[in-house]
Amino acid sequence: MPNNLEKIDFILNGKKISIKSEPSERLSKVLRENLGLKGTKIGCNAGDCGSCTIMIDNEAICSCLIAIAKVNGKNIETIEGLNNKGTANLQKSFLKHGAAQCGICTPGLLMSASSLIRKNPAPNKQEIEEALSGVLCRCTGYQKIINAVLNVNSCDEEEISPLPGESVGKRIPRIDGLKKVLGTEVFGADYWPENSLLLKIIRSPFHRAKFNFGDLENWKKNNKGIEIILTAKDIPGENKFGVIPNFADQPALAENETRFKGEAVAIIAGEYNAINNITIDTFPINWEQAQESLTIESSMSENAFQIHSNRNKNILIVGKVVSGEPEKAIEQSEYSVSGKLETSYVEHAYIEPEAGSAWLEDNTLVIQACTQAPIMDRDDTAKILGLNQKDVRIIPSTAGGGFGSKLDVSIQPLLGLVTLKTKKPCRIIYNRNESMMSTTKRHPGNMTATISANKNGKISGMIFNGDFNTGAYASWGPTVATRVPIHASGPYYTPNYKALGNALHSNGPISGAFRGFGVPQAAALQETLYDQLADSCNIDQLEFRKINALKDGEKTVCGQKLEGVGILECLNSLTEIWKKAVKNSDEFNKKSNLIKRGVGLGSCWYGCGNTALPNPATIKIGINKFGKLFLHQGATDIGQGSNTVITQICADALGVSIEKFFLIGPDTHLTPDCGKTSASRQTYITGKAAELAGKSLRNKILRLSNMGPEANINFINDTIVIEQTNKTHVLKLSEMNENKDKYVLSSLETYDPPTIPLDENGQGKPYAVYGYGVQMAEIEVNKELGTIKVLKITAAHDLGKVINPLLAEGQIEGGIAQGLGFTLMEEYIPDKTENLHDYLIPTIGDMPEIESIFIEKRDPEGPMGAKGLGEHVLIPTAPAILNALRNCTGAKIKKLPALPHRVLEAITEADIERRKN
Ligand code: FES
Ligand code: FES
Repeated sequence: MPNNLEKIDFILNGKKISIKSEPSERLSKVLRENLGLKGTKIGCNAGDCGSCTIMIDNEAICSCLIAIAKVNGKNIETIEGLNNKGTANLQKSFLKHGAAQCGICTPGLLMSASSLIRKNPAPNKQEIEEALSGVLCRCTGYQKIINAVLNVNSCDEEEISPLPGESVGKRIPRIDGLKKVLGTEVFGADYWPENSLLLKIIRSPFHRAKFNFGDLENWKKNNKGIEIILTAKDIPGENKFGVIPNFADQPALAENETRFKGEAVAIIAGEYNAINNITIDTFPINWEQAQESLTIESSMSENAFQIHSNRNKNILIVGKVVSGEPEKAIEQSEYSVSGKLETSYVEHAYIEPEAGSAWLEDNTLVIQACTQAPIMDRDDTAKILGLNQKDVRIIPSTAGGGFGSKLDVSIQPLLGLVTLKTKKPCRIIYNRNESMMSTTKRHPGNMTATISANKNGKISGMIFNGDFNTGAYASWGPTVATRVPIHASGPYYTPNYKALGNALHSNGPISGAFRGFGVPQAAALQETLYDQLADSCNIDQLEFRKINALKDGEKTVCGQKLEGVGILECLNSLTEIWKKAVKNSDEFNKKSNLIKRGVGLGSCWYGCGNTALPNPATIKIGINKFGKLFLHQGATDIGQGSNTVITQICADALGVSIEKFFLIGPDTHLTPDCGKTSASRQTYITGKAAELAGKSLRNKILRLSNMGPEANINFINDTIVIEQTNKTHVLKLSEMNENKDKYVLSSLETYDPPTIPLDENGQGKPYAVYGYGVQMAEIEVNKELGTIKVLKITAAHDLGKVINPLLAEGQIEGGIAQGLGFTLMEEYIPDKTENLHDYLIPTIGDMPEIESIFIEKRDPEGPMGAKGLGEHVLIPTAPAILNALRNCTGAKIKKLPALPHRVLEAITEADIERRKN
């Protein structure tokens, strides 16, 4: 027990509080750990993210930076206090405007905004941006947050409550949003059983090293409160995991050698205070640093060592798509352009570091943690721990962002191992540094391409090569290597084509899934070359894209005949806007030499779901004898809105109103497998399963009541009343037999996209549904400083039937924010940017105006015609900005992000080139 405790008195949410604490304890920690107010979130513990913002005497303050002694006598308010008199207007406004996606940043934003509107009840946009500038949001792109604060005084309008069968297409606020704005949502760090052990992970400080342990038992004895130390030799099952079973290669705890900085080698579990106070420096481990390779170049060099003995030349996999005769076509074409582009590691930077807890329920190991893929977590955790899958239950906590990285297991086997060995509950919360070091990144790429066109502007051929740094372990490297060649043509008819995607190992951070699986990197090169090719052909850049846009019935580079292709409609929707913006920028530039305005386009297409692999989702619906309707929905909602969208689809298919559903969220013991939340698959695939399940249950009800397809279904107490013109039938649920789930009526439906495996040339049907989009960027460039300010992005996206326009806008705005970061500022450099202070992501002040245009070209396969959207929206942003830059300065960027020194270098090179010509 610490002996320097001090008595501290303060007012907390209107109540007098008196506590004894070490005076230097962080306020955030006291609020969460001692006072149980978990609405205050901790994203960095360093003043960088603002998620811990509370109010002290009406001022918004980061509670992680305040020592508890400093609040003696002060008035503290947290998110829990905002709701003292019912849901505050600001909270209502956040909900109504879709300002909370995952919700992890929401308490901090609400506290900052509350502080502002107490002083200034009707702030303008600039005042809001200033007040909220200290709080990071990685999901929303901030536009809806600003709108929520701007409209705080007009949020009492009637709520949208769609009629039965009319949910789809409505701007319904997310159905799980209330807890997010109240601060009661349970994220990974917010729940743990009483007396849980706390975990601390020992990690490699080197990019590559050998190691052995000293006297662990003795160290444990000398550190009071430590319950157990576990290493690889304690793992009862197979010490290997990976998202693609054939490539599984990553140990839960490394054995003898580590392959990347931050790799876990041992777990220490013990009492909360003991773990918080241990001196890790004394942990008995001997490290022998080894030569490392951090780049693709060094991993491919002649004398490179092999990172995995079974992967020759450090090649994990090569993906390939070939059709026609690209070399010949390029040679015989009137015009061709070639280029190369390098991209960097990009960190997901979700505001919630990995966290969760584990406990035993009889013989079942229960793990509640942040994830995007509960079934994959269950299977890998069971394998590592030597358990049957049925003996592991994964309950996803609400994910505070994921964007692909929370597809890979991280904390699950570590938590499971401690609980299995000690039979005690345990918990873990990664700090920001270990979250950034140990989890996956976007693949850095070195790409080259040549594209040719005939004199009428028709694309004749393309050759693409992409080398991707997949880091120390496989993770999603195989997916990136196969997905990139399929997509590198862009959404254009390309009759002669060859594309290679090479995933190569290094000792850098593991590269995994990050919104787009390599496609954003490839599109940045292809779309910038398209502009150069259009210029060579002397054809307007938008018209050039229209000439080549894939049309219904045309074949992709994989030989797949497409239907429901909306790229041309996206381009058409921008025609007038493009002309006007080009004219305006030309006029501006005539009068300005230092600041130049540029306009640029970028397009995308993206196949939804796994690449030519089985990819099913199953939805169960049940009605109990009391007339309650349950939707078993196993797809994790990581903020994108699948809980709402899937329920909307199911409600319309069944013909009831959305409010009738009680949602049973993902839980491997309660919900069927809906697959992982990745590859923009949930609206399409799980949505389709929900549509089938809704229809199937409707048909059962209609059959039982002998009614036709147009009948209305009404739930009234413990009956279902079915009405059609002047006929009425009442189903008395209480008199019906229950099944093993206690349902009297139920349906279970599975949908698996109809794909065809690819042959050795990548020919087949990799995806059943694609989405399309075009974005237009308007930017200002300072030619002396090399800085780029993005003024506006106009985003036209074809998402088929728009299930929920409010949430779709949120996806577009959030995707553009991440695309802007990828283009202009985000570069993860091992050893240098392992925190949110040195690794910069867009803040509220970095965001341009965003205008979303929905194109609804229905897909013949998708539920109600819907397509996916989540990944698509990030892809066009980088090329649109890069093309705008070249259009106003001539600069061709060679490496992303386009930091000012790279922009200046490119401008200088363009000026030299111009003078030569
Ligand atoms: Fe306090 Fe990030 S947790 S600023
Ligand atoms: Fe802001 Fe997720 S909603 S970080």
